[in-house]
Amino acid sequence: MAKTVTIGKSDVTSMPLGLGTNKVGGHNLFPDLDDKQGAEVVRTALDNGIQMLDTAFRYGNGRSEEIIGQVLKDYDRHQVVLATKASHDPAQNMAHNNRPEFLKKAVDDALLRLQTDYIDVFYIHFPDEDTPKYEAVGALEEAREAGKIRAIGVSNFSLDQIKEANQDGYVDIVEGKYSLIHRNPEAEEFAYLKANHISFVPYEPLALGLLTGKYQADQVFQKGDWQFDHDPVNFGPERFKKNVAAIDQIRPIAQAHHTSLVDVFLAWYLANPNVSVVIPGARKPEQVVQNIKALDVRLSPAEYQTIANAFPEAAGGSDAPAYV
Ligand SMILES: NC(=O)c1ccc[n+]([C@@H]2O[C@H](COP(=O)([O-])OP(=O)(O)OC[C@H]3O[C@@H](n4cnc5c(N)ncnc54)[C@H](OP(=O)(O)O)[C@@H]3O)[C@@H](O)[C@H]2O)c1
Repeated sequence: MAKTVTIGKSDVTSMPLGLGTNKVGGHNLFPDLDDKQGAEVVRTALDNGIQMLDTAFRYGNGRSEEIIGQVLKDYDRHQVVLATKASHDPAQNMAHNNRPEFLKKAVDDALLRLQTDYIDVFYIHFPDEDTPKYEAVGALEEAREAGKIRAIGVSNFSLDQIKEANQDGYVDIVEGKYSLIHRNPEAEEFAYLKANHISFVPYEPLALGLLTGKYQADQVFQKGDWQFDHDPVNFGPERFKKNVAAIDQIRPIAQAHHTSLVDVFLAWYLANPNVSVVIPGARKPEQVVQNIKALDVRLSPAEYQTIANAFPEAAGGSDAPAYV
């Protein structure tokens, strides 16, 4: 049985391996998704003991939450840690909105789509331009007091925005872009989060599938390929080959553990003291089955360091995801 982690100062706990669900119903973000398969992905995760499901209004503009809500009817709600997000405002052409009234309604709407009466973690998905961040978080604090949400999160916030959001100490969790090939939060953010008892969830931990080792150095990605469109730096001509070469260096560690590369990389996040829950996304149920085996991989300190140092080109790219 894996250890559990506690989310910030809340009483939400979770198994440290969760599921990212932007390919469950996220038709506006990825081509060729199948909702039946998406529902199976969620079922497979829950059947295998995964607790945290990370979704958002933006994943299909409500569709991902609806699929999860439907699946949840067959499970014990109290075993599931539901995390969702909002900031895209349909009334403003999906511009980000952090106004208190918008966020309070976003919580109520998400509860309806998820067919539940509480959400474990509610994130502000992206900052808007003008709402004071402590006011935005204040609206979520009211939702928490009303029992609608259990923990407050922010995502895609700069360190200054996180500090402003946490002015009254209400922020429990931050979700940000972080992977072995994208290390920006290590510079300053992690120290602030630790000092303020705020948990961190990295998104795109598999670098959109790169860190599964399934791509070959001679593959070429270009405009129109979803991988390139979402991360033109790491799937672009300069960096892609170097990434594949760095990943290949880790194959002996996977062989020594009689496991796959993806499980070794996920084990690295599980051993990383800065990471609370790791939420690899999945398109297919069998990916979930494979990824959960990471819980059985124990890296030695030397292996952990070898993996940490394998990506000397890391840090690049922007903090913002290609799809906002
Ligand atoms: N807060 C934010 O702004 C934000 C932004 C992005 C993501 N997120 C969240 O973070 C989660 C994780 O990020 P992500 O899903 O974008 O990227 P990721 O976890 O880096 O990569 C996930 C993708 O890798 C491939 N994959 C996963 N397991 C595999 C396996 N065992 N073998 C082969 N391929 C495998 C699948 O794609 P294919 O099969 O299509 O290759 C899967 O969709 C998301 O699902 C979402 O919940 C949040």
